[in-house]
Amino acid sequence: MSKDLFSQASFGRIRLRNRIVLAPMTRSRAGVHDEPTDIMIDYYRQRASAGMSITEGIYPSADGKGYCRTPGLVSDVQVAGWQRVCDAVHSEGGSIVAQIMHCGRVAHADNKAARSETVAPSAIRARGDMFTDTAGMQPLSEPRALRSDEIPGVIAEFGRATERAFDAGFDGVELHCTSGYLPAQFLSTGTNQREDEYGGSLENRVRFPVEVLSAMASVDGAGRVGFRICPGNPFNDLSDENPGETFRAFLAAVRDFGLAYLHVIRLHNVELDNIALAREGFVGPLIVNDSYKLEEAQAVIASGEAAAVSFARSYIGNPDLVERFRSGAALARFDSKKLYTPGADGYSDFPAFEAGA
Ligand SMILES: Cc1cc2nc3c(=O)[nH]c(=O)nc-3n(C[C@H](O)[C@H](O)[C@H](O)COP(=O)(O)O)c2cc1C
Repeated sequence: MSKDLFSQASFGRIRLRNRIVLAPMTRSRAGVHDEPTDIMIDYYRQRASAGMSITEGIYPSADGKGYCRTPGLVSDVQVAGWQRVCDAVHSEGGSIVAQIMHCGRVAHADNKAARSETVAPSAIRARGDMFTDTAGMQPLSEPRALRSDEIPGVIAEFGRATERAFDAGFDGVELHCTSGYLPAQFLSTGTNQREDEYGGSLENRVRFPVEVLSAMASVDGAGRVGFRICPGNPFNDLSDENPGETFRAFLAAVRDFGLAYLHVIRLHNVELDNIALAREGFVGPLIVNDSYKLEEAQAVIASGEAAAVSFARSYIGNPDLVERFRSGAALARFDSKKLYTPGADGYSDFPAFEAGA
């Protein structure tokens, strides 16, 4: 029987009522303690008809924060805030997964707590600027290379964040392994020039994200843990001599873990076919992403190429994207100037289709 975008699915122990996924989007609306705010609860509740909602990137430790007003999974007040988000999504019948995102070197000191540090596999500053509330756009901070004896502690932070995510009521967790953040920094030759067992050879470069996924899976089984990749993604000054080889080795190393899903972003301008690479290297369900429209999403589900499709920009102005897809309604646009500004404006104030959009 061919599958339909609106049909149910199970990814590991996570249940989806349809195959339309809210993709993770950093929106910089967290409160003064980096806790989820009331408008964040509204935002996720409004989008709960998705088969699965993936949160914005959430930092697992103070050092893992990079951007201003982003939320954490470190303190009790943050866990309590996420509990309200999870309750809101569950009360609408949805499922929600926390994206764990450690920014590593993609950070500015002004965006972080006073005693935290910017750490990375190697002390190589990323070229690029980042917005700060204190001084506007600023060059990215110089990172400190992690010592070998510190790395087990950083890996353990991901395990603790997973525990807190489950305490808050999340259905699952997703490790962010792309876009130039810490796991991708360890994987890639341009950012990892270490000479210990976490750098150098291919086997050594994949060690960090493999051990992180293992730590996350050890909390309550691999069936509640997914991960996100985009081989060849140059975002945040990332470069790798052979991303195809790197990611094939990474996928091979986690192949037998039984992880809930793999979330893969396709690239349109490089030779690498990321979706084929993911299909060959991962045995479980694939969520595919980037620039899908309704028709193409239906086609990849019907053909079995993917188990679900995630949507980011389409969800910004269309909280009821599932209903709009079902009814063929037009999609509302959004204002890119309000992507990271505080407040409900351009964030949680988009009307539902039935409300007269
Ligand atoms: C405002 C914004 C914030 C984003 N933040 C994240 C993030 O925190 N984590 C992540 O993995 N991807 C993030 N992304 C990437 C999206 O999840 C997605 O991969 C990308 O927008 C392409 O999908 P689309 O064509 O459906 O928009 C972000 C994208 C946007 C537009």
